[in-house]
Amino acid sequence: MESFAEEMSSLGVLGAARKKGKVVMASIFGGTEEEFAEVASRIAPHADWIELNLSCPHAAGYGATIGTKPDLVESVVRAVRAATGMPIFAKIVPSVGLAGLIAKKAVEAGADGITAVNTVGPLAFADASGNALLTNALGGLSGGAIKDIALKCVAEVRSSVHCPIIGMGGISSRGDVESFRRAGAVLFGVGTALWGVPTVELRRFFDSLVSGGPPRPSPPITHRRMRVKEAWGTEKGRVIVLDGNIRSMPGQFVNVWLPGVGEKPFSLALDSPAMLLVKAVGPVSSALCSLEGGSEVMVRGPYGNSYSPTSRCILVAGGTGVAPIFFSLKRFSKGVLCAYIGGRSETELPLLHEMCSMADVRTATEDGSVGSKCLVTDIMDLRGHGGAEFLNCGPEAMLVRVSDIESRVTDPCKIFCIVERHSKCGIGICGSCSLDGYRTCVDGPVFSYRQLLSGRDFGRLKRGASGKAVSLQR
Ligand SMILES: Cc1cc2nc3c(=O)[nH]c(=O)nc-3n(C[C@H](O)[C@H](O)[C@H](O)COP(=O)(O)OP(=O)(O)OC[C@H]3O[C@@H](n4cnc5c(N)ncnc54)[C@H](O)[C@@H]3O)c2cc1C
Ligand SMILES: Cc1cc2nc3c(=O)[nH]c(=O)nc-3n(C[C@H](O)[C@H](O)[C@H](O)COP(=O)(O)O)c2cc1C
Ligand code: FES
Repeated sequence: MESFAEEMSSLGVLGAARKKGKVVMASIFGGTEEEFAEVASRIAPHADWIELNLSCPHAAGYGATIGTKPDLVESVVRAVRAATGMPIFAKIVPSVGLAGLIAKKAVEAGADGITAVNTVGPLAFADASGNALLTNALGGLSGGAIKDIALKCVAEVRSSVHCPIIGMGGISSRGDVESFRRAGAVLFGVGTALWGVPTVELRRFFDSLVSGGPPRPSPPITHRRMRVKEAWGTEKGRVIVLDGNIRSMPGQFVNVWLPGVGEKPFSLALDSPAMLLVKAVGPVSSALCSLEGGSEVMVRGPYGNSYSPTSRCILVAGGTGVAPIFFSLKRFSKGVLCAYIGGRSETELPLLHEMCSMADVRTATEDGSVGSKCLVTDIMDLRGHGGAEFLNCGPEAMLVRVSDIESRVTDPCKIFCIVERHSKCGIGICGSCSLDGYRTCVDGPVFSYRQLLSGRDFGRLKRGASGKAVSLQR
């Protein structure tokens, strides 16, 4: 609550939105009437409207735990009404038969509008082998699958209250908007349909909800079962070759899921056969580094944008940043002037030998086990390469220093960085990979240095699992 308020304030979100004639609605949740009221008071200066999450299905003690009990809904709304004078929307559960009553109780207690509906659940989602798809085990269903339920609830709410209704649940086209309008909604919410939509295409997408337009192609979200064909390296860092191809371009990544352990994004180091380079730092990466030939992994993707050189380029990589750089070298070797590769030690660079056979590769390691004993930035000699194009991948602190050096000889729009941010969905709908208003999974991971320079986050702030912005240690 505090972090959110501070960030909203420092970014000046409310002022900027109001200047454009927009409304900022903050969604809040709590476990008791008092908590809801406290959060509402704290958030009120940073929003125009407030939405009470009385419907999230999978957080015990919150959301739907409260929202399925009409009397509790009434007392929460009453407490928030007493705490703030701002417009309140109560977001309700998708319970056909109960939605009208809940909306009535909320409005009687002082709600100005109803948001209908939240996701349908809690449900346990599993793959064909019975593996729980969600780390939390339980989750909510959204998108087209719940549209008919959502429409029924909106119609029920319309027949029991006269306030504005924000209709949502599976809206992805103009036809859907019209269906929700006929059911009684006057405002419309879109979540799941944003899957795979880069930020530059958002306006066109929202325009299509008004004027119509062809449906958008969506990225693949079904997991593909693959086996490890070959793996080498150590338990700290490993090259994993899979038993199939993933048609992709350098810079793109896949989400790799190990049932019972977790799912994380990994850059493709090659597409045919698909190859990954993994450094063990936590549960998923360590489990991947222990895999041998024949082990099974679940893969979805490829996701994200990619890099294709427009002129002769120089590649720079650090640590596992070697993965997409290796892929670029394989794909565009003729256009590569040289590559600078850095790592802690030779064992962290299992693809180095093959890279050296493809291009002029200069290496630096911190322990001096291969190449010069220094950082990659110390060996970069860009004399005679003015105006060249650059592709960098590695830890963000390295990207900042490397790009700074490169920008002395070339324009920032010819410097490209592959940025890794904390990611969950990989398809643009959870927001966890946010970087300066971009969602790195759909807008990146390849960004021009010009784009990165214009923000406040790159090299300074990253987001933790909770979404809180924390300082990025250089
Ligand atoms: C687009 C994209 C591409 C990626 N490509 C690769 C890749 O090719 N190879 C690869 O190994 N990883 C890659 N990652 C990182 C990977 O997705 C995971 O974040 C990482 O493997 C840690 O996951 P975990 O579950 O093992 O540990 P977590 O529990 O997520 O992390 C454990 C701790 O390690 C820290 N940490 C995370 N990554 C690193 C790192 N690289 N070095 C040091 N500390 C770290 C975390 O902040 C945390 O404190 C990529 C990430 C993104 C977003
Ligand atoms: C990834 C994801 C995260 C969501 N998080 C929230 C949330 O934090 N609070 C909330 O009230 N609803 C949340 N929802 C529900 C949506 O806001 C929306 O009510 C629901 O998904 C139906 O709309 P849709 O089909 O357009 O996604 C989430 C939905 C998705 C898919
Ligand atoms: S929006 Fe979910 S990981 Fe990018």
